[in-house]
Amino acid sequence: MEGCHVYTSVLAVVGGITLFFLLLDTLWNIILAARALLAPFFLTHEEQNLVKRYGSWALITGCTDGIGKEYAKQLAKKGLNVILVSRSQDKLLKTANEIEQEHPVKTKIIVADFSKGATAIDYIRNEIKNLEIGILVNNVGMQYTYPMFVGEVPEQQLWDIININVGAVTMMSRILVEDMKKRKRGAIVNVSSGSELQPLPLMTVYAASKVYVRNFTRSLRYEYSDCGITIQHLSPMFINTKMNDFSRRLRTTSFFIPDAQTFAKHAVNTLGKLDCTTGEYARKIRLHNRVLVPRNTVLFYEISSRMGENSHREQTQ
Ligand SMILES: NC(=O)c1ccc[n+]([C@@H]2O[C@H](COP(=O)([O-])OP(=O)(O)OC[C@H]3O[C@@H](n4cnc5c(N)ncnc54)[C@H](OP(=O)(O)O)[C@@H]3O)[C@@H](O)[C@H]2O)c1
Repeated sequence: MEGCHVYTSVLAVVGGITLFFLLLDTLWNIILAARALLAPFFLTHEEQNLVKRYGSWALITGCTDGIGKEYAKQLAKKGLNVILVSRSQDKLLKTANEIEQEHPVKTKIIVADFSKGATAIDYIRNEIKNLEIGILVNNVGMQYTYPMFVGEVPEQQLWDIININVGAVTMMSRILVEDMKKRKRGAIVNVSSGSELQPLPLMTVYAASKVYVRNFTRSLRYEYSDCGITIQHLSPMFINTKMNDFSRRLRTTSFFIPDAQTFAKHAVNTLGKLDCTTGEYARKIRLHNRVLVPRNTVLFYEISSRMGENSHREQTQ
């Protein structure tokens, strides 16, 4: 009887401690949600002088479409000269022309394909060797053509995703961060994705690559933020861009699915003010809805919503 009583007491203590930590975790999530939701309202509305703070050149990867293109335009609007890096020369020239017509800044284009790994990085390193780059926007990213099982994704596409989503962010940061450190100023913006928040079957490798981006960015911040460098983790939810061509719903702009221009305008304004952000308000609400609901609910919602709307996949079968 005595032994049984002790056993029950131990279990009660273990249960109490577990419950305490679960409540603490939930409370912490609520505090984070409140902080992320309220932070933008306390952001200073003062126009930041990004040129003065970080330097006069910005380099943006994956910048002839979607978020990258609009982000480059927003930086040019703030007076930064921009180095545009993407695969297609025609699209680069068109983007550079648009920017120069809209803003009194210089542009430089670099044709590079990040899926080529070290070859692309060496080429870019050589092209920028005489320029002081104040802001690096690691925006380039690749997703499957449509949601599918890992075994169905062509092997080359998986290598491309790893080289682009993981390799480019890592190596572009590597080639620029030490110069920024010497100058004691600079900013690196790493574009991750809301898919980093949980395992995401049918987009397994894409979502896993974004977990890398998140953790890489956080660690990099610990290493370099004392040197005067801003390291921002920008984690958008869905944006209406061609990356989402597989889904009619995601290609329809709405309150929760903004276009790239709206997103970039808000996101650029968070630079130097928020270290970790989804980029803008409506999407923050959605992100924190996801943080606060049980993980499996989110997981199944994500899978079913993607499968349900995946007309492309159905067409190809
Ligand atoms: N759209 C969303 O819903 C969403 C949500 C969360 C996170 N994100 C992230 O946001 C970033 C931008 O996405 P997005 O939707 O704006 O993409 P997007 O519209 O598909 O544009 C991709 C850009 O990258 C360039 N690019 C593609 N492959 C490249 C390569 N191998 N080497 C060099 N450049 C390449 C493309 O230009 P070229 O074809 O000329 O090379 C294009 O300018 C990505 O990191 C993505 O993961 C997007």
